[in-house]
Amino acid sequence: MIVYKTGVDGIHEGMLTGFFVGWPDVPDPQTHLRLLQNSDKRVLAIDESNGRVVGFITAITDGVLSSYIPFLEVVPEYQERGIGESLVERMLEELKGIYMIDVMCDEELQPFYERLGMQRSQGMIIRNYHRQSGK
Ligand SMILES: CC(C)(COP(=O)(O)OP(=O)(O)OC[C@H]1O[C@@H](n2cnc3c(N)ncnc32)[C@H](O)[C@@H]1OP(=O)(O)O)[C@@H](O)C(=O)NCCC(=O)NCCS
Repeated sequence: MIVYKTGVDGIHEGMLTGFFVGWPDVPDPQTHLRLLQNSDKRVLAIDESNGRVVGFITAITDGVLSSYIPFLEVVPEYQERGIGESLVERMLEELKGIYMIDVMCDEELQPFYERLGMQRSQGMIIRNYHRQSGK
């Protein structure tokens, strides 16, 4: 069974494997744990049978008007079971009442977020690739 947690108590590096698929410079589990701890909000999907974190979503917010969702990922073996959708729904609940909730995503994922009540927009970014691993 998959359980969902909004806190990081009891989460350790050994539970955070298999994430950042396709990233050239992968953040290590220690860095992953740090970003979960430092995020204003996070929801974790955990496989109760083995204690592994199999999906996560984070948000940065001022708690007043704005919020941004930088990360959503479900490890490949657990994809296509509704976990990603559930993580987004739970995060939107966490951010309920906040005026702006923003996500940057590839065009192919826009229908996924549209199904969850979000609308298409445009944005601008900077990516310092030499800092991708967070080290
Ligand atoms: C996007 C992601 C979190 C979805 O997780 P999931 O648990 O498989 O999601 P769900 O089972 O709730 O929903 C599956 C839906 O995701 C959508 N989806 C996932 N990956 C997709 C992709 N590359 N292109 C288009 N749609 C995609 C599909 O609509 C799929 O629905 P379908 O089965 O009707 O085709 C997961 O595929 C993932 O971790 N991808 C890599 C990281 C990523 O792209 N994160 C989003 C950053 S904005």
